[in-house]
Formats: sequence, C-alpha cells, structure tokens
Amino acid sequence: MKKLLVELGDRSYPIYIGSALLGQTELFTHHIKSKQVLVVTNETIAPLYLDAVLKNLQGYQVETVILPDGEQFKTLDFVNQIFDKLLACKFSRNATLIALGGGVIGDMGGFAAACYQRGIAFLQIPTTLLAQVDSSVGGKTGVNHPLGKNMIGAFYQPQCVIADADVLDTLDDRQLAAGLAEVIKYGLIRDAEFFVWLENNIDALLARDKSALAYAIERSCINKAEIVAEDETETGIRATLNLGHTFGHAIETGAGYGTYLHGEAVAIGTCQAADLSRRKGWLADADVDRIIALFKHAGLPVEPPRQIDSGRFLDLMAVDKKNVDGQIRLILLQGIGLATLPVDVPQDLLEMTLNTYGRR
Ligand code: NAD
Ligand code: GLY
Repeated sequence: MKKLLVELGDRSYPIYIGSALLGQTELFTHHIKSKQVLVVTNETIAPLYLDAVLKNLQGYQVETVILPDGEQFKTLDFVNQIFDKLLACKFSRNATLIALGGGVIGDMGGFAAACYQRGIAFLQIPTTLLAQVDSSVGGKTGVNHPLGKNMIGAFYQPQCVIADADVLDTLDDRQLAAGLAEVIKYGLIRDAEFFVWLENNIDALLARDKSALAYAIERSCINKAEIVAEDETETGIRATLNLGHTFGHAIETGAGYGTYLHGEAVAIGTCQAADLSRRKGWLADADVDRIIALFKHAGLPVEPPRQIDSGRFLDLMAVDKKNVDGQIRLILLQGIGLATLPVDVPQDLLEMTLNTYGRR
C-alpha cells in the first residue's frame, strides 16, 4: 500500500492507494471518531461493494443511503435525501459520512457532510478511476444546477481517501477511459515526463495492467496533492486542474447531464483548449497532434457535438467559476507540461476553435 499526504496543516489527510484496501478495517476505524456512521452510495455500487465496507463497521450505528445512479441525479434534491436520513436517524455533529462511489457520489456525499450541522467528518472511498485520480482528493464538493455544472458547492476536505485499485475490475471500459482523461490532464498541465510515460503505456492501462494502473493513480494523486497543498481554494495554480473543463462543462450541460461522461467532455474540451493554445501561438502543431492522438488512443472522443454551435457554447461558457465580471477565462497550454493560469481569450480566436471540427 502507498500512503500519500495532502498537506493542509491541521486538515492534512492521507490518500491510501493499493490492493484489497476495502478489507483493511483499521484504515476505516482509524479515521472514524464517532459511533454514528452514514454510508452514501448508489444502486450500482451498493451490490458490488457496500457489504465489504459494512464489514469494517461492526459495532458502529450504521445507516445507508442508496441514491440512483447518474450525473443527472447530482442535484440538491438528491443531497436532500442524505439530510433526510441524517435527521431521521438523529445523527449528531460528531457523526461520520462515508462516500462510497465515483465522483458523483463523492461530490454529493462530501457536500452533504460539509453542510450537515455546518460540517461533519467524511471519508472518501472512490470506486472509479476518475474519482481515484482526481475527484476524491482536494475537497471540492457540490452538485450541478440545470444552468451550470458544479455551480453549487463547498471546499470541504475528507479525513482520508481510500483508493482500492481492485474495485476498478468491475468498471466498464468506457468509464476507465473517462478516468484516463483526467490522468492525461496531469501530464499536460505540469508533468511532461508523465505525459510521455502515458504515450508509451496507454495500451497497458487500457489492458488494465495492475502495475501500470497503480503507477498512474499514484502519480496523478502526487500531482493533485501538491497542487491542492499549494492552493486549496483555487486562488491561483489550482485553476490549472480545469484545463479543458470550461469547454467540457459546457458540453455536459449543453448535451444534457449524463449524455457525455465527465471525462469524455474533458477530453473534447482539452483538445479545444489545445487548438486555442495553438491559435494563440503558444503550442506547436505537433504537440496538438500528440494530445489529440493520445486521447483518441485512450478511446476518448475529441470532437465537440455539432448540436452545440459556437453561440450556444459561448452562452454556456459564460457560466463558469473561473469567469471574472462575466468575462470567460480559460486555462491554456504553453507547451506539453505547462499550463497557464486563467487567461482572457480573444473572441475571434475562441469562435474559430468552437467552429473547428474534423479531428477524428
Ligand atoms: P460517476 O460517479 O457517475 O461513476 C461512473 C459510473 O460508474 C456510474 O454509473 C457508477 O455507478 C459506476 N461505478 C462506480 N464505481 C464502479 C465500480 N467500481 N464498478 C462498476 N461501476 C462503478 O462518474 P465519475 O467519472 O466517477 O465522476 C464524475 C463526476 O466527478 C462528475 O460529476 C464531475 O463533475 C466530478 N468531478 C469532481 C471533481 C472534484 O474535484 N470534486 C473532479 C473531477 C470530476
Ligand atoms: N478537479 C478540479 C479540482 O480539484 O480543482
């Protein structure tokens, strides 16, 4: 087992990465300081992994909330079901919430933990590649609004993250590829050597080679933990984690939540960010080609949906947390491994990118 630390002073916490971790009771009990424990998961994950988690909680007062599965349920209404259970069971302020699932459950469970009685402890048990390499680490929690992705939320750090790579065995190939989009992101924004490693090892990752996956998870978490430690609440460098996300969130919202997986939308959005970076004169054609080739090789889409035209894109992109005074600001690339902080972009170049098709 590898143990990394997210260094945030008295809110520091470990990320455990390894095999068979769901069976290691002490990982759970060490981080639970209460008798009352609520496990939040969804109807797909519950039959697979809920019992394994509950086995670690004998002797606790355990309740469960099993939410419907899907990005379209990542809403305040469904977070309310978590509050209903906490209140109905008279859970106190020292209770602990365990979020068992992918990024949707992690974001919703974390947000419920942040709000219930102004904050209760929570543990992240990420079960998708995307959640293990990104969403479970760093304390961004929240829900979608019909007008904007992840626009309601809070920064709220967990007590620990337990990333058991064995659970990825039941993840389907499309979800695995979606997780790879966020893995590739780390190479692009700050780790050129890792990007080259990914180019050379993408087949091993797609074949679910255990050591390749373990390395990719660990290296991604090291990158994420360093960024979060430096800029927990995104006043600077953390925004680079949003490479491709402004385009991506517009695609998710515009196409309808759940139509594109988050990672798929990020892959397309990152290709658009690379295209715009090239138009700004910052990225060589050859680098844009390498980026598109790696996403394609990973089985990810690189083409925006044609039903979202440039006008609609601009409208959707106007709702984004990086915007200042309503002005769209984007993370771009000045090379592979070198992301900018949020920059204003000339409207004409942005529209050219939004009207660019034909990367397939
Ligand atoms: P997800 O949570 O919807 O999970 C994907 C699918 O896989 C779901 O159907 C889920 O039920 C299923 N699943 C989960 N684990 C499984 C397993 N082990 N075996 C079989 N099936 C399994 O999607 P995701 O890609 O994990 O997360 C996407 C969400 O994360 C988005 O809402 C995105 O906004 C959010 N996100 C948050 C952050 C953050 O920093 N908080 C970062 C990136 C993404
Ligand atoms: N996934 C973006 C962030 O954690 O900041």
